[in-house]
Amino acid sequence: MHDIVYDDDMKKLLIANWKSHKTQSEVTSWMDAFEEKYAKSLVSRVVDIVIAPSDVFLAKVADDLTEGIGLAAQNVSPFPMGKYTGATAAAQLASMGVTYAIVGHSERRRYFGEDNMQVANKVQQCVDVGITPIVCVDDEYVVSQAGAIDPELHSKCIVAYEALSAIGTGNNMNALHVEEVTKTIKDVFGSIPVLYGGSVTSSNVTEYTDTCDGWLVGTASLAVEDFWALATAIGNA
Ligand code: PGA
Repeated sequence: MHDIVYDDDMKKLLIANWKSHKTQSEVTSWMDAFEEKYAKSLVSRVVDIVIAPSDVFLAKVADDLTEGIGLAAQNVSPFPMGKYTGATAAAQLASMGVTYAIVGHSERRRYFGEDNMQVANKVQQCVDVGITPIVCVDDEYVVSQAGAIDPELHSKCIVAYEALSAIGTGNNMNALHVEEVTKTIKDVFGSIPVLYGGSVTSSNVTEYTDTCDGWLVGTASLAVEDFWALATAIGNA
């Protein structure tokens, strides 16, 4: 393995979105293997790693986390705490050490009927309690998806560009196209960090290093070996 070149200004964000995968024992094994690798490496100098487990494992992952690794929720209620059965409010997440929440993921929009207004309310709930929302947007809808969000909150967001055709398909998006969409996102949101997500692997992750401020990774975050290969590929770029 090559040395990792350290440059604080270039620190990227790498988010492991486990989606609705992993049982409790699988979470334990992943965390144990990951912590061992992380403790021995300099990866944290070039990349901030954030783990987004299912809500039921947030407390467990929070307990196991090494300092320096962040915790994200995959979703958040559009409402504050109160009479909303089954919902997890931003304040509850914050009380468990969650500092990021993915909002408006295309799977939430597609399978759970989440619309732009709900996403906008989720962003507001996050900001109210100091959680950074990671707002997922798709190419052609960037403007309308951003349009519902209070412009005053744009600067508090991280935006993840997730092309539908690239999510979970093995067909990662062309880096030049990602560059164009990133520019559009920054035109709309201002100079906030923009992540790329969609079939990111250790083989293609560095194609986006110059354009994006980080990555939102699903499939390649599930096996700790794949995720570690990806994280170290960034470090060695
Ligand atoms: P993928 O998922 O890495 O499996 O394409 C990315 C995402 O949906 O966040």
